[in-house]
Amino acid sequence: MNQEKSTQTPHISVAPMMDWTDRHCRFFLRLIAPNVRLYTEMVTVGALLHGDAERFLRFDESEHPVALQLGGSDADDLARCAEMGQKAGYDEINLNCGCPSDRVQSGRFGACLMREPDHVADCIEAMIKAVDIPVTVKCRIGVDDQDDQQALDEFVGRIADKGCKTFIIHARKAWLKGLSPKENRDIPPLNYERVTAVKKTFPDLEIITNGGIKTVEDIYSLLSPCKRGTLTGNKTDSRFRGKSDKAVDGVMIGREAYSNPYILAEIERKIFGNHDILGREKIAKAMIEYAKNQAARYDTPIKSITRHIIGLYHHQPGAKAWRQALSTLPHKDGAGPEVIEEALSAMKNHRKIAA
Ligand SMILES: Cc1cc2nc3c(=O)[nH]c(=O)nc-3n(C[C@H](O)[C@H](O)[C@H](O)COP(=O)(O)O)c2cc1C
Repeated sequence: MNQEKSTQTPHISVAPMMDWTDRHCRFFLRLIAPNVRLYTEMVTVGALLHGDAERFLRFDESEHPVALQLGGSDADDLARCAEMGQKAGYDEINLNCGCPSDRVQSGRFGACLMREPDHVADCIEAMIKAVDIPVTVKCRIGVDDQDDQQALDEFVGRIADKGCKTFIIHARKAWLKGLSPKENRDIPPLNYERVTAVKKTFPDLEIITNGGIKTVEDIYSLLSPCKRGTLTGNKTDSRFRGKSDKAVDGVMIGREAYSNPYILAEIERKIFGNHDILGREKIAKAMIEYAKNQAARYDTPIKSITRHIIGLYHHQPGAKAWRQALSTLPHKDGAGPEVIEEALSAMKNHRKIAA
């Protein structure tokens, strides 16, 4: 099907993070940032084809644009699951070629797929045929000893030949043996230049850099001059001079967006020029309403929601009181959405005492 890549708007997204970017988390992040793209946690084809698909695919309308990340390696299964994702209303289907966990390797998917570009190309071809929405790939710059530019370019090239237009590249290789998934997110060094080199070789593809991005300045330094120009209307802005060696079309942010979610408000303001941003307290109050609604509809325990909002006051006065309240109160018997109100009071009390 027609795989249109986005043109002017930069791709700024929050990374798929297993156990973290569930639908409650995404609802919360969307309240802060209307313009960033959100990704689900990886959902395996097995879970969708043999499990409670409705539950795995459930999301709130406000989450758009939202991408479903799939984990799998069978072309037919992936095509069927892509179709299910499209039917459920997702805006993009992403294939995980970057996860190094043992569980994923034993299923022959995730990062180990980088060793099989032809096979991934077949999978992507089948998925593209099955849906009208974009099918994208998230990968690493390499795996184990397959760690040179030529192999990465070949991987991207084979898949692009089948019509995939967007690649999100975690700028670290993965060691499939010997490092845990967590270590594989920290120990292999970041190499943004390798991602930029892919963009140079394939200028028509949308290339997104991921890994280690923590500030808006980091984002500015990675975006291509043309994307920066569309953002600021000022291509000669001094922040951007001399940095065209690291030019990509967008960035994906993982851990920083989870531990310090209000960084997305700064991104909205500075990158998207959006000045109509909800304050932290309004967001907290909106989460109370959301939690009430989820409890009524799905019997959702409050702790399943509050765990994602602990970072809302990151680096703000009273952050510790907020964090402590939300780390304890939701776990008490009978706790409900009122714990968010209590955490707000604890935070404000702390501020009063400190003033
Ligand atoms: C808790 C956690 C779970 C993750 N789960 C996934 C996943 O399901 N799929 C995926 O492609 N990457 C996953 N990742 C990797 C992130 O998407 C991202 O590539 C990585 O954290 C590097 O970006 P960062 O430095 O901005 O965090 C996960 C990362 C974390 C911290």
